[in-house]
Amino acid sequence: MNTLSGKHILLGVTGGIAAYKSAELVRQLRRQGAEVRVVMTAAATGFVTPLTFQALSGQPVHTELLDADAESAMGHIELARWADVLLVAPATADFIARMVAGRADDLLSAVYLACDSRVAIAPAMNRVMWDNAATRDNIATLTGRGVQILGPDEGLQACGESGPGRMLEPGQLVDAVAELFNTGVLAGQHVLVTAGPTREALDPVRYISNRSSGRMGFAIAAAAAEAGAQVTLVSGPVNLPTPAGVQRLDVVSAADMHAAVMNQIAATSLFISVAAVADYRPATPSAQKIKKQAGEQSLQLVANPDILADVAALPNAPFTVGFAAETEQVIDHAREKLQAKHINMIAANVVGDQQGFDREDNALHVLWPGGEQALARASKTRLARQLLDLINRQFNSIAREGKVIPLHGKDSA
Ligand code: C5P
Repeated sequence: MNTLSGKHILLGVTGGIAAYKSAELVRQLRRQGAEVRVVMTAAATGFVTPLTFQALSGQPVHTELLDADAESAMGHIELARWADVLLVAPATADFIARMVAGRADDLLSAVYLACDSRVAIAPAMNRVMWDNAATRDNIATLTGRGVQILGPDEGLQACGESGPGRMLEPGQLVDAVAELFNTGVLAGQHVLVTAGPTREALDPVRYISNRSSGRMGFAIAAAAAEAGAQVTLVSGPVNLPTPAGVQRLDVVSAADMHAAVMNQIAATSLFISVAAVADYRPATPSAQKIKKQAGEQSLQLVANPDILADVAALPNAPFTVGFAAETEQVIDHAREKLQAKHINMIAANVVGDQQGFDREDNALHVLWPGGEQALARASKTRLARQLLDLINRQFNSIAREGKVIPLHGKDSA
């Protein structure tokens, strides 16, 4: 299994001899499925050329803060936003001190300052520099700010001395980065996700459906599994691989999806309804292919069950999250749905006109009783993780108030 499939790793390379090992690190990160972009400090380019990292990452290497061309292509803010993890390897004593000081006078330190994703550093320096009280204090400060310190290792150093200060080997760093994604915040929870469109048969060969690709729901299922949950994904017809560690049940129509969900719901503590379920189905699907006839034709439709509303109305309802795909007045409509369906949270997005459906990225506005938060445009993978963070926070606060009982959850307070 590729442990870093689709993850965005922003690799910061600073000026130490271990920079040569970071070239291999890029190869190994990509072999695990990660997308890698590289930012180098000026000192790092004295050890390894940007061309090496460009060839290995398959992306232009970023070195300048105040370069108009580079900034217009992908500036420090975009780079910071793009990253799921910022990994600085090797991290020199000087760069660590710059992180502590909050400097922003070169590209990599500015990216660090602008980055609200996970940050990890792999220190590499002479053993005496590592043991110096200044470095120790700096490491303690960064640890206190939530920066993960990976290593250093002990052993023979480039300066000829032996002791702690060697950068971890690329393979160890890849494992450590993969570990950063295993947050475990949903460990013990049973999460049920619906995704994709449904198909409502007119006859054996024709159906009514919609443009949902299933990507958002699949990304949410993947993120929930990554967070340690036991995940079941009920999917309409889509063309997507099953995310690692997720149990998938394929369905076709809204009625099938309703039945599959109700079958699973007793064991579910968190229900996330991402599917674009058809609101109506043909009243009397024909057993044979309908023949072409002269004149106008009309189609009689009947309403499908509302799966989300039915789940929310259950006596022991799990925590329920809906999606509201709208082409206009998105937030108002979402707020109405939150109330009408009696659900705990709703994520609204604009669809149509090149947005929402069938795209790799998305933007969401999330609402819950008494709160809301906008999640800026990002990849569906990234948005899924951010949404799950929000869900988890709300879920825990409601569970604490005793309004939902996480059926299989640990004490989540
Ligand atoms: O009412 P509307 O279809 O806009 O609501 C969207 C939300 O309700 C989504 O979370 C969708 O998955 C869910 N839904 C459902 N069953 C339906 C229609 C919508 O679960 N029949």
